[in-house]
Amino acid sequence: MSESVVITDVGPRDGLQNQPKILTTQERLALIRAIAEAGVPQIEVGSFVSPKAVPAMAGTDQIFANLELEAFATSSIALIPNMKGYELAAAAGARTVTMVLYASDGMAQKNAAMSMAEAELVTVEILKLAKQDGIEVIATIAVAFACPFDGATDPAVTEAVVDRFINAGADQVVLADTIGAADPQQVRALTASLVKQHGAVKLGCHFHDTRAMGLANVFAAVESGIRRFDSSIAGLGGCPFAPGASGNVATDDIAMMLQQMGFETGIDLPKLLQASDLAQRLTGTAPGGRAKAWLQGHLTKLAS
Ligand code: COA
Ligand code: ZN
Repeated sequence: MSESVVITDVGPRDGLQNQPKILTTQERLALIRAIAEAGVPQIEVGSFVSPKAVPAMAGTDQIFANLELEAFATSSIALIPNMKGYELAAAAGARTVTMVLYASDGMAQKNAAMSMAEAELVTVEILKLAKQDGIEVIATIAVAFACPFDGATDPAVTEAVVDRFINAGADQVVLADTIGAADPQQVRALTASLVKQHGAVKLGCHFHDTRAMGLANVFAAVESGIRRFDSSIAGLGGCPFAPGASGNVATDDIAMMLQQMGFETGIDLPKLLQASDLAQRLTGTAPGGRAKAWLQGHLTKLAS
């Protein structure tokens, strides 16, 4: 049996939070449903953040109230920046939350008006509550490789945060290259070291394709044993609070590469392309990744 890689599509959150066009709840739900229909196992469906800070994520409680993903092998995740986010996510029925941690104080301040240490203290409190509430917690470390405010991140700082939150009982810890600045050599070194210390089961990576190194970074992490990746349908994405951040590595690209390499992803590529088309239609800006044009021609030939 071939080895599996778990893809989390963060397009409906990381993708939509940075679009000039704000989608309606119905449009957001249609995009989430299309991604689920393509067999993507996990979807970050929205965030519980201040609607003044991120207007595109207002009404994520309505997304949870109307998700209807029961027919699909897909679970939903809510991103949260603080305790209020946890409370709102739990009240809305989220079963998995992604809490944002930081490898720099500059980013922690800009994103969540906290220091790194304050975000960690809140996360420890959230982990306690989540255990009682039966909610899974993913700890995502923003600017794990470089910060737009504080410059290059010392790998030892990121390693220390990972260490603390694996030990604190996070269900997963994800290294996020928020501004797409990492190169494959850095990724290989950091992920290999972390896998050696902690094993790969709880570790994941989140890459942006800002400098065209997204897939190369995915490959470097795969070589280290990482089997969990965030990506975004049609390459939507970017952080409104991190200057220079552009789209995530496209789910279209990562699914094609991993499947061609023989990994099981559970993703149906023709259906994924439909979801990608929808993302492009709804937002009017998604680039669609690089694989899509080739896949469209190739899959049509196979079908005829
Ligand atoms: N969800 C919804 N509203 C929230 C919230 C949350 N998780 N956290 C705080 N708020 C509200 C407060 O109720 C308050 O509302 P009011 O102005 O109507 O009274 C307002 O936001 C400011 O609250 P405060 O605690 O003073 O916030 P802050 O200024 O210390 O922190 C954040 C600002 C973190 C709340 C805000 O910048 C935010 O939500 N950022 C989102 C970050 C993000 O999504 N980044 C991209 C993904 S990593
Ligand atoms: Zn991101």
